Amino acid sequence: MDTTLVVFGASGDLARRKVLPALQAACASGQVQGRVGVLGAGRSTLDDAGFQALLGEDEQTAALAPSARWVRLDYGDPSGYRRIADLVSSCRQVVYYLATPPEVFPVIVDSLAAAGLNRRGDATRRVVVEKPLGRDLATSRELNRRLDTGFEEAQIYRIDHYLAKDTVQNVLAFRFSNSLFEAGWNRTLVQSVQVTAAEEEGIGTRSGYYDGAGAVRDMVQNHVLQLLALVAMEPPTTFDARDIRKAMLELLRAVQPIDPQSAVRGQYRGYLEEDGVDRTSRRETFAAAALRVENWRWDGVPFFIRTGKALRQRTTQVVIRFRDSPALKLEGIRQRPITTLLQLRIQPHEGITLRIGAKRPGTRFEMVPAGLDLEYQGLAGRPLPDAYEHVLAEVLAGVHTVFPSGEEIDRSWEIVGDLIAAWEGGGHPEVYARGSWGPEGGEELVARFGGSRWLNPGEDPSQVGGV
Ligand code: BG6
Repeated sequence: MDTTLVVFGASGDLARRKVLPALQAACASGQVQGRVGVLGAGRSTLDDAGFQALLGEDEQTAALAPSARWVRLDYGDPSGYRRIADLVSSCRQVVYYLATPPEVFPVIVDSLAAAGLNRRGDATRRVVVEKPLGRDLATSRELNRRLDTGFEEAQIYRIDHYLAKDTVQNVLAFRFSNSLFEAGWNRTLVQSVQVTAAEEEGIGTRSGYYDGAGAVRDMVQNHVLQLLALVAMEPPTTFDARDIRKAMLELLRAVQPIDPQSAVRGQYRGYLEEDGVDRTSRRETFAAAALRVENWRWDGVPFFIRTGKALRQRTTQVVIRFRDSPALKLEGIRQRPITTLLQLRIQPHEGITLRIGAKRPGTRFEMVPAGLDLEYQGLAGRPLPDAYEHVLAEVLAGVHTVFPSGEEIDRSWEIVGDLIAAWEGGGHPEVYARGSWGPEGGEELVARFGGSRWLNPGEDPSQVGGV
């Protein structure tokens, strides 16, 4: 075997629903070079045949079954790690994927190191960890410290699946291959920026995790801030992971910790009746905030973010609102300028729309919004690759572009720290109707901090005014 993916918690939900199907798909689509085997490790009393049968039950993992192996272990038990060492000893690359609850990350990392399986500094030995990466700055630092004692940064892969979305990566391509836009991508021409990550679904069956986390930990600390960093960062020297991560960290350092006074939280009506949710829970299922990015490029430009569950429509998008041009007069009457908007649609209906002002045909100078549309899906000519497949392909290739660094994760916790503390301290979130765009406070926020209003997902920027 060229590569072995050692999956801790391989019989669990995350591994079977996400990690292993993505591995099979990445291998099938040719994104992965060489032969890859799976070694499941966990507390379930399985053996090789039992694990193979489990993989064989699902067509999305069946191709991995024939060569799959199982090591039963308690996560702190050295004998299990010795068996893993025997099984992977002749492998060129070994990836340890921690698909377990985060409480056992430290004991697994320590045990790998104690068994010499980490080979500290050897980039052919890698470790992959996934959200939640801490609950706050202190726990995030502690996790990073534990990872750092076993592995060097170059061996560590922290998953943020948003970064691995093709259209999120396209934000970089769009910005840095179109000098026309990049030239105006600053306080001189940009009036405000909006980032929305809206979901239609409620929390489903995930109350056990979500009621302890909420929208800020679940989405803002990671996906939303990462997306914002790509939109706002300085041009990296190259598209290599090292330079991109450096530019992203620099930007996150400029993002000021969110002031609870410039944020709004909401909870969808019915959340308290969801299975497993504490009936008195004050957990937010919606969060919106105005952020300040204090650097040369963005001084004075408000960045608005919002995310939530049970909203009207699933959409992730970024909207750049450019400054209005001076309004010209026609027959002594000042014409209403049309605001130029650039909408980067991350999902669904991936693409880019530029709203510009145009003259209504047949009139003298009546201005109307018009749109220029680019469908990203059409460019690809084939379905966009799944983010998880891309994550696995990049780990196996040893490329860090779509993985945030430990410093980025820590900094993101710093940015949301005051907000989390304030919201855990008291009060109840504003209740909003399922299928709405969240609480009213979320709407007011934009007007209050110098924007106009949200461009709601699904609205065609070339058809609406007032944004
Ligand atoms: C996950 C969150 O990280 O991202 C979920 O834990 C959320 O709550 C999901 O639903 C959204 O991802 P996507 O790719 O469906 O937009």
